[in-house]
Amino acid sequence: MSDRLHLLHILHELQQKHRYIPEESIRDVAARFNLPISQIRAVVEFYAFFSTTPCGYYHILFSNCTSCGYQAGDTNLLHLLTEQLGVRIAQTHADRRVSVQETSCIGMCDHGASLLINGLPLIHLDSERITQMVGLIEAEKPLSEWPSPWFHIHDQIHKRGLLLKEDISAGDGLRAMLLRGRDETLTEISQSKLRGRGGAGFSTGLKWRLCKQAVGKAHYVVCNADEGEPGTFKDRMLLQQHADAMFEGMTICAHVIGAHQGFVYLRGEYRYLLPHLQTVLVRRRGSGLLGTTILGQRGFDFDIDIVVGAGAYICGEESALIESLEGKPGIPRSRPPFPVTHGYLGQPTVVNNVETFIAAAHIACKGATWFTSVGTTASTGSKLLSISGDCTSPGIYEYPFGVTIQQILQDCGASNVQAVQVGGPSGTLINQTALHRRIGFEDVSTGGSFMIFNEKRDMLAIIHRFTAFFAHESCGFCTPCRVGTTLLRKGLHKIIVGQGTRYDMAELQHMCELIRRYSHCGLGHTAANPILDGLQHFSQAFEQRLTQRDFIPHFDLDTALEAARQMTQRNDEGAHLDQGAE
Ligand SMILES: Cc1cc2nc3c(=O)[nH]c(=O)nc-3n(C[C@H](O)[C@H](O)[C@H](O)COP(=O)(O)O)c2cc1C
Ligand code: SF4
Repeated sequence: MSDRLHLLHILHELQQKHRYIPEESIRDVAARFNLPISQIRAVVEFYAFFSTTPCGYYHILFSNCTSCGYQAGDTNLLHLLTEQLGVRIAQTHADRRVSVQETSCIGMCDHGASLLINGLPLIHLDSERITQMVGLIEAEKPLSEWPSPWFHIHDQIHKRGLLLKEDISAGDGLRAMLLRGRDETLTEISQSKLRGRGGAGFSTGLKWRLCKQAVGKAHYVVCNADEGEPGTFKDRMLLQQHADAMFEGMTICAHVIGAHQGFVYLRGEYRYLLPHLQTVLVRRRGSGLLGTTILGQRGFDFDIDIVVGAGAYICGEESALIESLEGKPGIPRSRPPFPVTHGYLGQPTVVNNVETFIAAAHIACKGATWFTSVGTTASTGSKLLSISGDCTSPGIYEYPFGVTIQQILQDCGASNVQAVQVGGPSGTLINQTALHRRIGFEDVSTGGSFMIFNEKRDMLAIIHRFTAFFAHESCGFCTPCRVGTTLLRKGLHKIIVGQGTRYDMAELQHMCELIRRYSHCGLGHTAANPILDGLQHFSQAFEQRLTQRDFIPHFDLDTALEAARQMTQRNDEGAHLDQGAE
């Protein structure tokens, strides 16, 4: 299959062409793919980057990430933008010139407040830049005439370790594997004790072995470049600067497990990286590192397609990702069976993170001993961290596993730290008393996000934003997560606005446990983490906002009767409920 023929790509093209996906296009696509119209419509409706009503000529997706934030000082930049443009959030301006939507973290936390405009990241937003942008939109200037530094993504790498210090040359990993033998290479990966860098930390050697042993018509290799966890941007840098090593790792994996086809699932927010990645693929094909008879080895045939996602965090979950690759809504599958035996098209599939494949390529070149010489017994090697928030030097840092949080804070220039969110909203919230803890699978594990909050930050507001993120990103498949995450968001809001009681705190805790226990997938299992960690480590922040009353109803009947009052044109005392009654 060519990636140009992928359903998601065709929908992206339609969205770009019409600025929405018209009903007749949905019918055409259904006929082309020989699928029911309802199935195509379900896909269009599932993904945030597709719409069934027209977006503006300038379509803006404003990142509401907690870390880079959409605040500059006291100014809410999103509100400033919509006010100046005269457009409401999630609406298209009457003249169809511009539309503005809020979106989750776009992976630019090291570049300040940022947005995507027609798919391109625009960074370092402040009030002045917003005003200039509005001027350019009103003058209908094409993006090619906007100041180019606004779009210049500069990867700030502050600390290089095992992987970043010395890159490998294209083909070196493959040559080392062919010299060593494919089974011996698998042994080397196992002996390195490499564990997945995407968050869950499953043994890479074991994953490859299970997949190799699984029986199927074909085997597949998938690189998870969805990087949706707020505060994570290390894969963005790796894709930009180390794509060769990533493709090399995938090709090594393919030879080990016997796959001929691989995919990179690239998050929609990183679509701007697609031309660069395609160029690297073409170069590799030209150098005999992809395609048929790789490096002259008969039977070593493997190629890679890139499929671009469309704005759904859940598609980072490996089974949802596979559904999406198959051109369906990204709803997580029931597991087991796991992708290693029943993955893409029901066939044995390895799914690994970008950083994991790069580490595997390095291990193939330099050996397991080189890798295990760094890190701890349970967490060998290094970890790339995306550091953002309240520090003087945000950016990428590569540390040996086992480094303390305190050390990291010192290196990146963080002071007056109140909290660190390690591993994104689904990870661990650390307070001042736990800064001695270490990064590693045996202590604080992380896919790479490391967000710092100083003493000026309102912890409840941060926890609320994380909770709202999960409510927004819940795929809606199972009730505990779909309903529960929204109830958590509302329950927390009630406390924040000073209407929460002890009863609400107990309810919140109870709801957290239900969601964690009964949800279908990892999103639901971790969605309550910010509140649970908050209750444990920042209980005072909650206590301070509680009222002394036993109970205040969530539902305000008097407000709900407003519509009736307007219809009857009454606003006298008798048309209101008695607000004073306890
Ligand atoms: C909601 C959710 C989102 C996830 N997002 C990502 C992601 O963006 N990138 C990633 O590599 N893994 C992500 N994962 C983990 C993947 O499901 C999977 O474990 C990982 O891709 C396996 O690769 P690894 O073993 O190399 O870490 C996510 C998991 C969940 C539950
Ligand atoms: S837990 Fe949430 S994200 Fe996962 S399947 Fe259920 S509704 Fe979807």
